[in-house]
Amino acid sequence: MEYQNILFEKKDNGVAIVTFNRPKALNALNRATLEELADVVENIKKSDDVRVLILTGAGEKAFVAGADIKEFQSMSPLAAKRFSELGQRIFFELEELPIPVIACVNGFALGGGCELAMSCDFIYASDNARFGQPEINLGIIPGFGGTQRLSRLVGRARALELCLTGDMIDAQAALEIGLVNQVIPQQQLMEATLEVANLLASKSRAALRSIKQVIHKGLGVDLRHGCAMEVDAFAVAFSSDDAKEGVAAFIEKRQPKFSGSLDN
Ligand code: COA
Repeated sequence: MEYQNILFEKKDNGVAIVTFNRPKALNALNRATLEELADVVENIKKSDDVRVLILTGAGEKAFVAGADIKEFQSMSPLAAKRFSELGQRIFFELEELPIPVIACVNGFALGGGCELAMSCDFIYASDNARFGQPEINLGIIPGFGGTQRLSRLVGRARALELCLTGDMIDAQAALEIGLVNQVIPQQQLMEATLEVANLLASKSRAALRSIKQVIHKGLGVDLRHGCAMEVDAFAVAFSSDDAKEGVAAFIEKRQPKFSGSLDN
């Protein structure tokens, strides 16, 4: 598929960057952009060569300013249902990718943009970033998982406050409520994000995948079941060449060289 609304770049070490590229519309997610994102995610799932994914927005103003409101004008309730289902399906696929996914939020992350960032594993935000679920101001509600992921991330009261008022919060406030992991000056945001992505790309791919799966799945079950999943995943980790290499490297006082394989 040829992309019109996003840029896709892959570096030699397997770090890939998706840039939402509709700066005139503050990178709003129209249907075509969502379909292109779905294609990227599908390709990453099928191939083995992307080890870490970064999502960001083109320009200095916006990550993604939401779903494309212009497409809402003629949307029937049934079309709205399909649109919400489409967005949710893609965001689940993104969330469930077996590799780390980092949101590099370089400006407005509103509505679908905030929901997109919350579907990533964690968020680094520029100091000018703004977060919010402003759908209430359009007389509608979040539709790409915002009511659910936000409350799980920041708690019921803060999620209700944000969704009911529709107010934006700045990056510092987002940091204080645990929505973002770090606030970074805008000019250094991508460099700092890449530094972490490069570090992750050097680690055991199988172990990264396992940690991600156990944390995500564990949050959906009670503590005992989550810990039981960890026991199984811990045992499986010992079957990998990467585990042998990591432990041997520690004992031999050298840096480990992980294979990048998911098969062992
Ligand atoms: N969908 C479609 N177009 C959008 C958009 C969106 N979600 N957000 C911004 N745009 C467009 C604007 O319509 C404008 O286009 P135009 O120049 O053709 O009129 C352009 O992006 C620039 O936006 P503008 O509003 O002029 O910038 P601003 O700096 O004054 O305000 C925002 C920035 C983000 C506060 C404002 O654009 C906004 O509130 N956007 C909507 C956010 C939202 O409600 N998202 C949830 C959607 S469910």
